[in-house]
Amino acid sequence: MPKVMNITLTINGRTHALGVQPNAVLLHTLRDLGCTDVKNGCEIGECGACAVLLNGKPINSCMVLTVQADGADIVTNAGLGTMDKPHVIQEAFADAGAIQCGFCTPGMVISTKALLDRNPDPTEAEIREALSGNLCRCTGYGQIIAAVRLSAERLQNLSVYGASSLREEGREHDSSNRVLESGDQTEVGGAS
Ligand code: FES
Ligand code: FES
Repeated sequence: MPKVMNITLTINGRTHALGVQPNAVLLHTLRDLGCTDVKNGCEIGECGACAVLLNGKPINSCMVLTVQADGADIVTNAGLGTMDKPHVIQEAFADAGAIQCGFCTPGMVISTKALLDRNPDPTEAEIREALSGNLCRCTGYGQIIAAVRLSAERLQNLSVYGASSLREEGREHDSSNRVLESGDQTEVGGAS
């Protein structure tokens, strides 16, 4: 049995002290911690369903060992917004009819967030390129492209992109509420 390694991960603004196996995969660790919005699709880096932001960059969490993320700030779809208080992007996906079964949606939202963070007014070609690692078996992608455009328009109309939308201000509030659970160390993510 490999030695458990002690690490910390900050997930959606909450810091966790964890003991993990060296071969634990970040996707499984996140799901073990209750982040079931991070979907397990292919586990080989091809579908994008497991995408999260790792220090602001989109990654497929099935392709990262948990220990590689030691000290990282991770944001999942649920960290952007909730049913009661959705992020602009999440709302745009719903309004554009870009959600059918919804399995791909968390990863699509994460990739859209990463795209619009670096390029607030992308062309269709740029949207397609940014989402090329996210597969959807339901929508045919037309509504998803429309949802990204709608997200960009709404964020621009708010004129607060970069300084954060009103909903992101809510997330910032959550983020300030960090808790280091070092006295309650959790062991997760064995061989998976
Ligand atoms: S589950 Fe990670 S890319 Fe498919
Ligand atoms: S909405 Fe079903 S996989 Fe995309």
